[in-house]
Amino acid sequence: MVTKPSKIIAIYPGSFDPITNGHLDLIERGSRITDRLIVAILRNASKAPLFTVEERMEMLREVVAPYPNVEVDSFDGLLVDYAARKQATVLIRGIRAISDYEYELQMALMNRRLRPEIETLFMMAGEAYSFISSKLVKEVFGLGGDISGLVPACVEARLKKRLLGESK
Ligand code: PNS
Repeated sequence: MVTKPSKIIAIYPGSFDPITNGHLDLIERGSRITDRLIVAILRNASKAPLFTVEERMEMLREVVAPYPNVEVDSFDGLLVDYAARKQATVLIRGIRAISDYEYELQMALMNRRLRPEIETLFMMAGEAYSFISSKLVKEVFGLGGDISGLVPACVEARLKKRLLGESK
């Protein structure tokens, strides 16, 4: 028989390059249904990021500060092995549209095969955020489009600095 852990520790993994308001919505909702939520940035991703892991962690720490049971970390290697080291039993992933489903299903099933004791929990993105992705935010901002309301203010400031070379 599987016993229910006394405390639910969950990992919300991702690239977060950078964090958007869609991610933040999931963090807020995830923090309400878990005892401890670890937002974990993948270190050895193959895609070339705009922000370093340290910069992304700084932005994340700033935006999760209001949530006492949320912390920020980074990891290397297999996600399920990292989760096991953290004694987490839940992986949280957001689904925005059907197009996310195939990739997410593949990952969830592979992760379950590797460590069946760790459950993937899918959360539907808030309807106001279902079209937002870090990739699109960077592209639109880089081409001069308005991204207010799509990312936290500290992220918008960092994007300005990085992509437009502004000091503020
Ligand atoms: O925000 P992303 O880029 O969609 O996040 C993808 C992430 C970090 C969740 C995924 O690439 C991952 O878990 N990588 C760690 C390596 C791993 O465990 N790979 C096997 C996944 S089935």
